[in-house]
Amino acid sequence: MFSNFFFFTLLAFSSALSIPRTTSGVQQVATFDDLIALPALSQVNPVGVYKGLKYNSLNVLQAGTAVKAQSGANVAANSITGTILTGGPSISASTVKSFDLQNLYFGCAANTLQSAASVPQQCTIAFTAFKAGSSVAYDTINAQFNPDNAVSSKMTQVKFPSSWTKLGNVEISVVQATTTELLNALLIDNVSYKSYSS
Ligand SMILES: *[C@@H]1O[C@H](CO)[C@@H](O)[C@H](O)[C@H]1NC(C)=O
Repeated sequence: MFSNFFFFTLLAFSSALSIPRTTSGVQQVATFDDLIALPALSQVNPVGVYKGLKYNSLNVLQAGTAVKAQSGANVAANSITGTILTGGPSISASTVKSFDLQNLYFGCAANTLQSAASVPQQCTIAFTAFKAGSSVAYDTINAQFNPDNAVSSKMTQVKFPSSWTKLGNVEISVVQATTTELLNALLIDNVSYKSYSS
């Protein structure tokens, strides 16, 4: 009897507490550092669903030195192999209803089997936002990565427009890179967003 009462009180209390969470969203930073990473860019290690969002065609990678991780050792990385098998990279709402994408860090590298042997590469990346429940592109922005060093570069931050709220999906594509070979790796870290569970 007492335990039932206690349980209901707890339930009522916790659901009351969760109301402001669902309306105002939960601030998140995806660093991928708590995921198991392999040292080589590999299709066998997809990020999958992480902190509410699904990372399509993005694998957990230990960044190495070509493009340095923004935090910890791990980044999310796309390789051409992964793209061919699973479509272009995208970040979409999975276990949450929608998200406001605020900013992320990215860089490009020559894609070698050993990430330690790769080099940073200039590139332009297009980010295309889709509002939750819509299959019509809402907005696209391009962001450029210019390595600050020829062998070991920091990532570049891209800040998204404040109108990029309540998104369902963001598609990512390489629109230009220094080499015309399809041997590019795109590395992403510290994805900052607010997620909404309703
Ligand atoms: C990246 O995220 C980590 C973990 O939240 C944080 O400590 C670090 O300051 C962030 N770096 C930048 C440049 O935002």
